[in-house]
Amino acid sequence: MSARSSLTIVLAAGEGTRMQSSLPKVLHPVAGQSLLAHVLGAAPKGADARLAVVIGPDHKAVADEARRIRPDADNFVQRERLGTAHAVLAARDAIVSGADDLLVVFGDTPLISAETFSRLRAPLQSGAALTVLGFRAADPAGYGRLLVEDDRLVEIREHADATPAQRAIKLCNAGVMAFDGRKALQIIDAIGNANSKGEYYLTDAVTVVRDLGWEAVVIETSEDEVRGINTKAQLAEAEHVMQARLRKAALEAGVTLIAPETVYLAADTTFGKDVTIEPFVVIGPGVTIADGAVIHSFSHIVQASIGRKASVGPYARLRPGTSLGDGARIGNFVEVKAATLAAGVKVNHLSYIGDADVGANSNIGAGTITCNYDGFSKHKTTIGEGAFVGTNSSLVAPVKIGNGAYIGSGSVITKDVPDDALAVERSPQTNREGGAKRYRELKTRSKKPKDG
Ligand code: UD1
Ligand code: MG
Repeated sequence: MSARSSLTIVLAAGEGTRMQSSLPKVLHPVAGQSLLAHVLGAAPKGADARLAVVIGPDHKAVADEARRIRPDADNFVQRERLGTAHAVLAARDAIVSGADDLLVVFGDTPLISAETFSRLRAPLQSGAALTVLGFRAADPAGYGRLLVEDDRLVEIREHADATPAQRAIKLCNAGVMAFDGRKALQIIDAIGNANSKGEYYLTDAVTVVRDLGWEAVVIETSEDEVRGINTKAQLAEAEHVMQARLRKAALEAGVTLIAPETVYLAADTTFGKDVTIEPFVVIGPGVTIADGAVIHSFSHIVQASIGRKASVGPYARLRPGTSLGDGARIGNFVEVKAATLAAGVKVNHLSYIGDADVGANSNIGAGTITCNYDGFSKHKTTIGEGAFVGTNSSLVAPVKIGNGAYIGSGSVITKDVPDDALAVERSPQTNREGGAKRYRELKTRSKKPKDG
């Protein structure tokens, strides 16, 4: 795209009542990111690309999410919900300050791509005043229909106001529009509310443009890209489409997915080269997997970084704040949280490692638990390099285990262990010679086993 400046207005003032949720609609997640984050991610970026988000009253969380993703976003509150044109005008101050292209998009269409925004803007460069994104709907009920005559867009007729013949039209308004920025305010200000709902419809921009003798054009896209989310069922459909896209992109980038349809990825998952992911793995937001790492089946990973050639699972859970060094091994039924495990660390079976630092090449035996919580606050466990923690040990934090230290199996460690020390904390073992035999004889005398 040329150096044309842009203003993107995201309409997100809706309550989303059909989601049956206390969370504002645009904050619901798809592939680990809010609907709003997806839309903002696709909107034009860069020094000459401004962004405005129109939010409902009492939707501070939506404003915060917009700022988190795009710190430069301007938030505008639409106090009364009087229609999509009225919502755009809530951002009047942003429009007045001027941009070559004004883009309007709904906050609940998370599958829209950056490329589509570019395609929409192109006709403005050759003189169109307005571009509308259209799609062929499998079931057009509820959508505005695009009325095209002689290849020219003449009107958008809302479903509620359409005749039966118009309702049979499949070409629908996706809701994304691009205006010539110098003409936008004149067009949108001229929109009235003489329709069945008494709302200011942004879609009436088409007839206004025609009346002013300017040109409005349609750019088509696939229905999948413009699916709007109004219900939990539609949220699940969008997730389905997004997962298919993410799996395809991962495969194209060289990730080995043995059964792609069983692996769930997040929009921000990053992979190195030669990564293998076995079937039935769930990856949440904030995960980085470096070259050659293998994620075995039934693992669940969120906000974690996995080093080169590391191995995770099967049945591992990596929670937020996990960092695994190169070649680290996390085995079955191991949970790790807020912990840094340096290169070559092994935690192969049945452990919980939370709020911990583990030095390179240490071996954490089966059943080791960091006791990080005393019921009031969390405490840290620090384990040096090359340490060996025997199976079934409890490390009661705060506690430090030195480099090269050795912990005897079954110990409950409450005091720091110096470098190269051997710590054993358990009752001495007693062996009673012949005791087992005497016990058996006692039992067989009192209760004869049945024949057979
Ligand atoms: C709208 C379009 C319709 C299109 C469909 C695509 C209009 C008049 N109709 O209909 O042609 O086919 O989307 O999904 O534009 N919003 C506000 N403030 C308001 C009203 C709406 O912020 O006062 C926001 C909503 O939060 C939503 C978006 O604008 O994100 C669209 O509003 P919605 O009521 O869903 O419009 P539709 O009836 O779906
Ligand atoms: Mg809608």
